[in-house]
Amino acid sequence: MKTKVLNFGSLNMDHVYQVQHFVSPGETLSSTKLQHFCGGKGLNQSIALARAGANVYHAGAIGIDGLRLKKQLEEDGADSSFLQIREDLETGHAIIQVDETGQNCIILYGGANQSITRNQVDETLNHFEKGDIILLQNELNELKYIIEKAYQKGLRIFLNPSPCDEKIMELPLELVDTLLLNEVEGEQITGKKEQVLEALKDKFPEMHIILTLGSKGSVYADKENCVFCEAKKVNAVDTTAAGDTFTGYYIAAVSEGESVKAALELATKAAAVAVTRQGAVPSIPYRKQL
Ligand code: RIB
Repeated sequence: MKTKVLNFGSLNMDHVYQVQHFVSPGETLSSTKLQHFCGGKGLNQSIALARAGANVYHAGAIGIDGLRLKKQLEEDGADSSFLQIREDLETGHAIIQVDETGQNCIILYGGANQSITRNQVDETLNHFEKGDIILLQNELNELKYIIEKAYQKGLRIFLNPSPCDEKIMELPLELVDTLLLNEVEGEQITGKKEQVLEALKDKFPEMHIILTLGSKGSVYADKENCVFCEAKKVNAVDTTAAGDTFTGYYIAAVSEGESVKAALELATKAAAVAVTRQGAVPSIPYRKQL
């Protein structure tokens, strides 16, 4: 049986500008194309989980201008009943520049994503029990409270500390079961520029760690084991949501009881497809396409 996955995460409308290069200080730059997509690290990861076939529930908050995001969750088969609609707030959004090499840079506006209440957390967690998975990123408020309450209930906590900032170090990271992060985030958390995986293991000896290494692949490590997975070679068009696709697919495989190796391979394949497509949600593949 598949383990239930609760993703307490952000939902954004993404406004994506195609540019020749990222805008510099003082520069006014014309874009060649503007597109609007459903996004947000939380929503992207829920969609990846759903498209991978997981039993996923999404909790979070949007304004009434963000109903398209709720519809997207429902169309993909994710449960949206723990999503709150705040009539007085705007939905979160992201302004994304994508350059000619497919790299991006992002400005976030949190909006309703920053309005999570402790009451909402308590009510949502009442529907989950010991052994269920909870997935978190760093685009919501009340993360510390969510982690503490989820731990008290015996949920298995997966954290993708993205986007990484000083707030991450204020969290009770010792309660996290699995940390999924990239090398830059690893450097920010450990303060080390080299041997980041070793530094993470020293800092969090009880944790399961998954470090993505861009074009080099990804690696899983815990106290006893280390599993490496090579990346696929693809022509990147837009890297937005590739990390989210990896995270969602990895956790979907874990929720089915797959081995770490199988989960890493599935996640790698899915992320490789995502970078060949534009946008966040539209780039996330369905499992049957892998
Ligand atoms: O990881 C990509 C996502 O980051 C985008 O969809 C954007 O909304 C930001 O949250």
